[in-house]
Amino acid sequence: MEQLEFIYKRKSIRQFKKEAVPREVIEACLKAATFAPSPKHQQNWHFVVIENKEMIHKLGEIVERNHTRLAHLARTEEEQRQYMRFLKYYTCFTGAPTVILVYAKPYEMVEEEILRESQVDASIIEELLAPQSGAQGIGAAVENFLLAAANMGYGTCYMTGPTHSKREIEECVGFSKENYGLMAMIACGVPVDQTPPQPPRKPLEKVVTFID
Ligand SMILES: Cc1cc2nc3c(=O)[nH]c(=O)nc-3n(C[C@H](O)[C@H](O)[C@H](O)COP(=O)(O)O)c2cc1C
Repeated sequence: MEQLEFIYKRKSIRQFKKEAVPREVIEACLKAATFAPSPKHQQNWHFVVIENKEMIHKLGEIVERNHTRLAHLARTEEEQRQYMRFLKYYTCFTGAPTVILVYAKPYEMVEEEILRESQVDASIIEELLAPQSGAQGIGAAVENFLLAAANMGYGTCYMTGPTHSKREIEECVGFSKENYGLMAMIACGVPVDQTPPQPPRKPLEKVVTFID
């Protein structure tokens, strides 16, 4: 379907040309991100844009150091090697000219407060929070960003892997807003000429059930 071309042209890009992404492109993608739905329209996101090469490099070093430390917690050398195979997927943002850090504030759920004050069983609260609505809103916003960027010819990678270094990344970046913490990162830039194809999808019949 032609109208959906903008969806199908997006794929994760992990290698970028050196070329900078113009500020107006980033702003257009961020605006698109903020037009995503969010639970009770709380818009619980904040985007921190990093274009400083040195800082991006430093963030990469932080992620690599922590990833290696975590890998060494594995019991066997084989497991450590296996763990280390993911490193390149956690640090590929370092080749991007622009990295967007996506901060989020927890979703404030009045119903949760009401039921907590009524001292209901913990399992009821657990069920209420299970959809992780705050995180779902962030996902919607990030996807809008990715689609907007792809439609303008830019490449992106949605990344949560590096958030194992959340505390150190937050310290290095120095951004702070009450109750907000790092949830995800977006690497953004001009894709290199040859990029791997989009991985195939499960066929619809495996992931869809129509109930008449
Ligand atoms: C929540 C989320 C987190 C992700 N984290 C990473 C990541 O840390 N590093 C990475 O290289 N890709 C990451 N990805 C990208 C996926 O690997 C990618 O979307 C998937 O393999 C499908 O490929 P495509 O995006 O090219 O269609 C993430 C995607 C999502 C939705």
